[in-house]
Amino acid sequence: MAKRKAAPEDDAAATSPSRAGAKPPDGSVYIGQSIKPESIPEFIWLRLANRHGLITGATGTGKTVTLQGLAEGFSDAGVPVFCADVKGDLSGVAEAGEPKPWIEARDKEIGYTQDYRAYPVIFWDLFGELGLPIRTTVSEMGPLLLSRLMDLSDAQEGVLNIAFKIADDEKLPLSTLANLQTLLEGLAARADTLTTKYGNVTKASVGSIQRSLLVLDRQGGAHFFGKPVVNIKDLMLKDGGRGYISVLAAEKLMESPRLYATFLLFLLSELFEVMPEVGDPEKPNLVFFFDEAHLLFKDAPKALLEKVEQVVRLIRSKGVGVYFVTQNPLDIPDTVSRQLGNRVQHALRAFSPLEQKAVKAAATTFRANPAFDTEKAIMELGTGEALVSTLDEKGQPSIVQRTLVRPPNSRVGPITDSERNKVIAASPVKYPEKPADSDSEQARLQQWADGPADAKAASADEKATTKTSSGGASRSDSFWTTLGKTIIRTGVPLATKVLTDALKGKGRRGGGGFTGFGALDTGGGSKSADQSKTGTSAEEEYVPFKSIPDERGILGGRKRS
Ligand SMILES: Nc1ncnc2c1ncn2[C@@H]1O[C@H](COP(=O)(O)OP(=O)(O)O)[C@@H](O)[C@H]1O
Ligand SMILES: [Mg+2]
Repeated sequence: MAKRKAAPEDDAAATSPSRAGAKPPDGSVYIGQSIKPESIPEFIWLRLANRHGLITGATGTGKTVTLQGLAEGFSDAGVPVFCADVKGDLSGVAEAGEPKPWIEARDKEIGYTQDYRAYPVIFWDLFGELGLPIRTTVSEMGPLLLSRLMDLSDAQEGVLNIAFKIADDEKLPLSTLANLQTLLEGLAARADTLTTKYGNVTKASVGSIQRSLLVLDRQGGAHFFGKPVVNIKDLMLKDGGRGYISVLAAEKLMESPRLYATFLLFLLSELFEVMPEVGDPEKPNLVFFFDEAHLLFKDAPKALLEKVEQVVRLIRSKGVGVYFVTQNPLDIPDTVSRQLGNRVQHALRAFSPLEQKAVKAAATTFRANPAFDTEKAIMELGTGEALVSTLDEKGQPSIVQRTLVRPPNSRVGPITDSERNKVIAASPVKYPEKPADSDSEQARLQQWADGPADAKAASADEKATTKTSSGGASRSDSFWTTLGKTIIRTGVPLATKVLTDALKGKGRRGGGGFTGFGALDTGGGSKSADQSKTGTSAEEEYVPFKSIPDERGILGGRKRS
């Protein structure tokens, strides 16, 4: 960031016109300058940066540039950043910027001195091509998110849950998709015996899951599932005093929007599990930008929204600031939107009635400025100009200001392949290109799958009944599972029913998008004719999550070491 005078009395700069021309105070991240009637710096207080944020605006209005500038500011302040690079144009943050007419024009308008330089970046890529491979295991992701990923039907998800339960009971490893395939083969081979022990396992359901697994595999799942799993702490590294900016290559990933959204959600929940409670720190431990955030919420059932709302609310005290980036502020549900304290609204178009509604809604989220009409301003904003309201020192939203956003110090636009490769080679952490060899795990699974059906089922049964409280061989009891369990544990049939209804996620099978929490039938609901046909009645015997130990806290899934 450009040099700035830092005096404590500058703290009033945000709201006091007498501070015109002042530089942003220490302990803040500069956004840009509101120039009318006077030039006033707009910024986010670092100590309030964990109160989350929202960047919105139509395509081409300057969202990515704003995000890039904020990422730089956080990095400079020693705060690591995680962001997804949806279009490939954020990768330039790893290289120094250079003078461009629009940059120089903007600098002149706002009195900013560019400090062209590269920022410390770690590139990540689920496919392992454009960055370090980022992996997790099948058991770590758990059956609920996996069902979502594969868009399984209720009956299929019931079977997947049984598969995870058996893996727990038999202490079978579930790292890779191949592991899961083998487990499913074994399930199909002894469907009859297992049905009587665990609930209905039909060959047809198993077959459907296996086909869905193949699709996931083709989307790149084979790269993504395996060991070594990403160490969440590697997303929070520093280079001297500067925070690393983790850039997830997401162009290809966006071809599978559900994989993209579920993965980021998974990452958030892992962050939640791993990070200690810190209350309100002087500055965040991590700032997480969730680009194309509409994919997270699109068609999501109420229970998922509630959980996302909960994660966003609670992750704050872990010192993680979540910044959603999306075109339309209406993409973000109210319950989540209310928690986003720091807001940058770029221009919106308002041709259609729906667009007009969005403008109106966006306008009402701001504390009005008597100097202009918020609604009109949203439609008039130029490129790289935004309505900005951040939390003031008291934690109240500041009066909205028309703000000219400062250009980034790093390059605006994509990095070249050779530049990227150099950055990757210089990464402070290493992950193997290929998943670690899991032959022995696979062999164990194969042995189980090939084993005599009766003996196996009997032994599974024995373990299931003699076990007091599972030490938890697998990570099936992840955050998401624990959430569901918590609801069930809180007791009553009503809670179970809420979960059941909610998890069923209406419309989750319509369209190919990201469509909400996976379905799980706890057996309370009435069966559709279709379900009866596939014979899911035995699901009624299956109590989900029953093997999960009770000592877990409300949101405390198993933590990684
Ligand atoms: N702060 C800014 N000042 C001046 N021009 C800007 C600014 N932000 C963006 N622009 C211009 O607008 C273009 C598109 O910005 P971008 O951030 O990619 O838009 P979006 O992400 O909303 O589609 C940039 O390449 C740049 O030319
Ligand atoms: Mg963009």
